[in-house]
Amino acid sequence: MQTHTGIETIREALVAERVAGKSVGLVPTMGNLHPGHLALVETARRDNDLVVVSIFVNPLQFGPNEDFDGYPRTLEEDAEKLERAGTDVVFAPSLDRIYPKSMQAMTTVAVPGLTRILCGAHRPGHFDGVTTVVNKLFNIISPDRAYFGEKDYQQLIVIRTMVSDLDMTIEVVGVPTVRDTDGLALSSRNAYLDTNERAKAPGLYRTLSKMKAEIESGVRPGDARPYEEIASAASAELERLGFLPDYVKVRKRADLEIPDATCTELIALGAASLGRTRLIDNLSIDL
Ligand code: PAJ
Repeated sequence: MQTHTGIETIREALVAERVAGKSVGLVPTMGNLHPGHLALVETARRDNDLVVVSIFVNPLQFGPNEDFDGYPRTLEEDAEKLERAGTDVVFAPSLDRIYPKSMQAMTTVAVPGLTRILCGAHRPGHFDGVTTVVNKLFNIISPDRAYFGEKDYQQLIVIRTMVSDLDMTIEVVGVPTVRDTDGLALSSRNAYLDTNERAKAPGLYRTLSKMKAEIESGVRPGDARPYEEIASAASAELERLGFLPDYVKVRKRADLEIPDATCTELIALGAASLGRTRLIDNLSIDL
């Protein structure tokens, strides 16, 4: 496994592989890797000749009061896990390689509309930071395919939209959410939960599961009022369980718009805090 910190050196290394006709799969991460990340690496391993994993904690996607400074940085352990998972190349650039000038002076890439709803409404600028850094990673690595977790479902749809709007020739592959045995979606941020909060945390998954079961067993497609009612009941349930909910919604799975009468492919999404930890999760609903 090679590790590169420089943009020029990784470009050079990949040029030779491309000339040899190899396909390249990219898995962008912020490190502190867990089995959720490794599921992306495994999927990329199956589809591509060469697997590149990037590790970069991207300041542009953190709000001023968010956890950029405290975000866990565990490069050595990450490299060992990636080596075992069959990664070919790790790209771990320093901050000033990615942002050599002030972030305020940066050209940015933004997907309008979609990034103002759901998590975007609660984390202003977050998705612009994601699309900008992912765009840079795409330009540095030039992958054939890029892998994103369904756990961050809005992020996946935002990236798909960026790729389509800007005519990028990259296949975006979504990978199912990896969960702990009690249902909690794996996340680097779960490490912030204390014992008491960790015991409560699967309540988000359980609440979304109940919504899914209720909708799949009864509601007619497009009967939008019940969706709203079911979502606000779920939000109240989360509060009762000790969460501070940001939102609970039922949306169209394809584009996160409000479902219409014909829509049978839905998704229940929720974001809620336990103490200082903000958790997100989602579940597909099929009618
Ligand atoms: P990060 O939170 O490190 O996640 C990297 C990738 O792993 C994302 O695509 C995310 O959806 C996926 N992932 C995280 N937990 C998962 C789980 N439990 N199951 C399946 N996939 C999971 O998301 C980011 O980093 C950043 O925004 C990034 C895309 C790297 C841009 O900076």
